Amino acid sequence: MRTSRTSLGKRLSALCTGAAAVAALLAAGTTAHAADTPLRDLAAAKGKVIGTAVTGSKLTGTYGDIAGGQFNSLTPGNAMKWGSVEPTRGSFDWSEADQIVAFAQAHNQQVRGHTLVWHSQNPSWLTNGTWTQAQLSSLLQDHITTEVTRYKGKLAAWDVVNEPFNEDGTYRSTLWYDGLGADYIAQALTWAHAADPSAKLYINDYNVEGVNAKSTALYNLVKSLKARGVPIDGVGLQAHLILGQVPGTLQQNIQRFADLGVDVAVTELDIRMQLPADSTKLAQQAADYKAVFDACVAVTRCAGVTVWGFTDSDSWIPDVFPGYGAATPYDENYAPKPAYSAIATALGGTSTPPPTGACAATYSVTSQWNTGFTGQWNTGFTGQVTIACSGAALSSWKVNWTYGAGQRITQAWNATCTQTGAGVSCSNASYNGTVPSGGSVTFGFNASWSGSNPAPTVSLG
Ligand code: XIL
Repeated sequence: MRTSRTSLGKRLSALCTGAAAVAALLAAGTTAHAADTPLRDLAAAKGKVIGTAVTGSKLTGTYGDIAGGQFNSLTPGNAMKWGSVEPTRGSFDWSEADQIVAFAQAHNQQVRGHTLVWHSQNPSWLTNGTWTQAQLSSLLQDHITTEVTRYKGKLAAWDVVNEPFNEDGTYRSTLWYDGLGADYIAQALTWAHAADPSAKLYINDYNVEGVNAKSTALYNLVKSLKARGVPIDGVGLQAHLILGQVPGTLQQNIQRFADLGVDVAVTELDIRMQLPADSTKLAQQAADYKAVFDACVAVTRCAGVTVWGFTDSDSWIPDVFPGYGAATPYDENYAPKPAYSAIATALGGTSTPPPTGACAATYSVTSQWNTGFTGQWNTGFTGQVTIACSGAALSSWKVNWTYGAGQRITQAWNATCTQTGAGVSCSNASYNGTVPSGGSVTFGFNASWSGSNPAPTVSLG
């Protein structure tokens, strides 16, 4: 399916009364929508970071447009982990990490390095080896020094140590804790600081969003590191949350870390629900996203929020939590979900949330807003229509419109289109008639034009 260069904004819709019912609407340039002000601009106005985890190989087309356009910070989802950068001892692969850093620089974005010291996603040569304490210590020092030096001056922050605690606040038994003792954390921070004094150094963990035993252990650790003069700049709250379970003490917890004199970042936000998604769950999710952003906005030292993947098509949740998903602000086809509007609202934007219980068709001339490419040349243009449903579903669809300026369809893909006079009718292909609640389908076409090329009003029947 052609999904590149989808125009995000501009949707308006009417209620579906059933699978065959009419929802309608239109497009280009007439309807206010949250997407009209990118999240990164809203966040910047509040002095906050809005980040996303990314996969380097996907940074083109619509994925690249959204990653570059909506976010002012990127975190490599996997590319900087030890197992990714040094799969064989002494042989390094920086390709994906370098690519993400270059993309971020080209889009005027920060990069959050993730992660240097962890019990997971380490290379097998490391985890399968037998090491003395001295060997283990120098392996870790070399790793940190090599990686941090490579990106020296280019990263805003590093998640230096990831997930050091158990749920009860004791230290997790890991290669590092077991081999080096609890002070591996202070050493790692010290080595990282020596390699790049300008990067903000964080300890990052999950289930530390609210006030609880684990976050209190982290609090006590940060306090003692600060007292010892160990370079610690911030605390990362991963925030892999479950629908309806944003801790009520989130803001209070952020504030208590801030009061220790460190920054706080929400580093890996996603809010998972049991599948299938429906309009009630998506509305709850929107409220949950808003609660997290509100808490960060309320505390000056909360640096910002990074989502762990911005689209449901690039989320780790379905792989790791069977039966759960739909955890990010955009659906699998890059249509913004209610959570997207909630984030915009929390960041001070005005937004028109997608209606519930509706399917809508959105017409646009394909454009790549960030390069100025309009998808239109002197005699022709490429356009697309996205049919999206929320709280309703379709098993087949037909989209109709009437061209007002003599445009003529010459070719279509992912739909069968016919044009009689000015009237165009496009129906689903054999393989894309189904549009589930929370899902969308896009088809594309080429057409000719002359004089002017106004967007028509489209109807979904
Ligand atoms: C996850 C990635 O998103 C997946 O692609 C990978 O298979 C496993 O790791 N906490 C972290 C992240 O700090 O590094 C994890 O990322 C998610 C949980």
